[in-house]
This record gives sequence, C-alpha cells and structure tokens, in this order.
Amino acid sequence: MDIKQLKHALIDIETQARQAVEAASTLEQLRRVRPRFLGRKGSLGQLMATIRDYPPEQRGLAGQTLNAASQAVTRLFADHQKRIESSEVAAEASRADAFDASLPGVRPPLGNVHPVTAVQWEIEHVFQRLGFTVEAGPEMESEYYNFEALNIPAMHPARDLQDTFWLSNGMLLRTHTSPVQVRTMEKFGPPIRCIVPGRCFRYETVDASHETTFHQCEGLVVDRNISIANLIAVMRLLLREVFKRDVKIRLRPGYFPFVEPGFELDMSCLICGGSGCPTCKKSGWVEILPCGMVHPNVLRYGGIDPHEYTGFAFGLGLTRLAMMKYGVSDIRVMNSGDVRALVPPSRLAGSMIVEKQ
Ligand code: DAH
Repeated sequence: MDIKQLKHALIDIETQARQAVEAASTLEQLRRVRPRFLGRKGSLGQLMATIRDYPPEQRGLAGQTLNAASQAVTRLFADHQKRIESSEVAAEASRADAFDASLPGVRPPLGNVHPVTAVQWEIEHVFQRLGFTVEAGPEMESEYYNFEALNIPAMHPARDLQDTFWLSNGMLLRTHTSPVQVRTMEKFGPPIRCIVPGRCFRYETVDASHETTFHQCEGLVVDRNISIANLIAVMRLLLREVFKRDVKIRLRPGYFPFVEPGFELDMSCLICGGSGCPTCKKSGWVEILPCGMVHPNVLRYGGIDPHEYTGFAFGLGLTRLAMMKYGVSDIRVMNSGDVRALVPPSRLAGSMIVEKQ
C-alpha cells in the first residue's frame, strides 16, 4: 500500500469510527467499540504494524499520517464520552426526585451543649423572668472577698471547710461563687436580685461526686422585709422549673458563716430514685441548695444597713443539678470532654434554643 492508498484507507477508518462512536449512546457501548479502531488489533493498530514495510524514505511520512489519524480518532472517542457523561447528568437531574444543588440547604441545629451550660441557661431564664440580673465575678479572687467579707475571718475554723488553691501572687481560686455577693452589694447597693453562675475550684480528692473544678450558681436578694418565706418560695419555684415537676425536698439547719439562720436544702436523688447510690453517697438525698438569710455582718461589708435591709442567699450546686437533670452518675464525666455527655438541641427547652444560638 503506497502513501496515497494509506491516506484513503485512513479516511475510511475515520468515517467508520465516527459512525460507530455516534451510534454509542452509553459509556459501556463506547468502551466496547474502541478496540475496533484503537486497539493493537484494531484497524489503526494493524496499519501501524505495516510502517516497517514502507521504503525508508517514505516511513516518516507514513508514520506521521497514521499518527494524525490515530489522534483524530482518539479525539472522536473523548468528545463523545464527554457528551454521554453530560447527558447522563442532565437526565439524572431532570428526574422528579433529583437532587437540586441550587436549593438553599436545611441548616441543622448547631452543636450540642454541655449539661452544665444547659442547666445554667435554664436557670438564668427562670430567674430573669423573676426580675433577677445575671452577674459575674473573677475566678481568681482575693482572700478578702472569698472569706473575710463573708464573715469568715482569718482564724475562723470555717476556712477549713474549703480546701483552697492558693496562688503564688497571694490570691486564690475562688472556692465558691459567694464572693460575688459582696462585690454586687458594693457595685449596685440595695435592692438587689441577682444570680451568679460560675466556675469554682477546690483542692479535693476526685471521686464520683467530688471534682476540683465545678460550677455553682449563687443567688442573692436584698431588700426591705425579705424573709425566710420568700427564700423557700423561690427555692421551690426554681426546682419545679428545672425538673418540670414537684421534687421531694427537705430542709435541714446548716452552718455557713455568711448566713444566719442557714439551711441545707436536699432533694431526693433522681439517679437512684432515693434508694441510695454512689452519687448520693447511699443516702437517697443530694445536697443541692445550701441557703440562708444573709448575715448582718455580710450586709455591712457590702455597705448595706442591716437594720433597714434583710436578704436571703443561696449557693446552688450547678454541676450536681446538671447531673441530676441529665442522669450523669459520675461527676468526672463533666470535665472529661466526652461528647456523649453533651445535650443535643432537641433536649433543650425551646426558649433556650432561640435565645442562645
Ligand atoms: N458558698 C457555699 C459553699 O460553696 C454555699 C452557700 C451556702 C452559698 C449558703 C450561699 C448560702 O449563698 O447562703 O459551700
């Protein structure tokens, strides 16, 4: 076959290839016709094998001609492959249940919330409806606000009740949220209705119910004619709102130097239903709400006249309350970073989702 015949043969092959390619309507069909032209035994491949039969001076031209034809046929296949692919996408997209990438997405509720945060939001919500403000104070606190201004003088044995992390600068990590009581009295003066959720620290041996880092929520009301009846009413309301039912409680005398009289308010353990478990130290009751009437000395430290004003205060164990509410039996889980303990948005009170996201 001379060069002229070769060119004619190649034109024929290209024409056949074009017809074969265009007849293919799926990728699979296209794949199947390809070897007929481009494979080693295909029509182009066979012609390639004849190059060495040409006289040396014609071999170069024969090779170039064959290569050009082979590239043209390869392009035919590639172009048709693209056409099939895009028509398949279009067919897929026009199906009734097709995915429409241009539609705006459904935004999933973002993130889960730590049980302590969830309970804190809920308590803030309850108290804000009662006209309380939400205050904050420093976690690194002075001895004065943490102890002295709360009627716990330097040599007072009550300081032993709280094992304190002392810092090298003479300050300490607050052992409770109570120091914010006097700070708030100084800042605003009476009347006061506030809560103070916050982190506290104690040098404790860690076990199922003790942690070195935990949360409390202080409460303080100072006004004229505040009595124990007000205190009990607010405590009951608080527990009812948090647990969405009347929770069994008991009130015992309790000693805290900054209140007089002072009480321990216990609630029936919701982890074991009152039968006794490690969380309630097998007693069936959990100390959750120490409280009392603000000691006159504390009012004086805050610059308030105890003859004119009285008040009540409470120190809610926020971490413990969260454990009760969300059924976490071991306090160590709370600081573990274990995401399984987090509260999904579906379990938060509706108002909290709107407010906090
Ligand atoms: N601050 C106390 C503690 O951490 C708790 C407490 C008790 C707070 C009685 C109060 C209160 O406001 O009235 O142990």
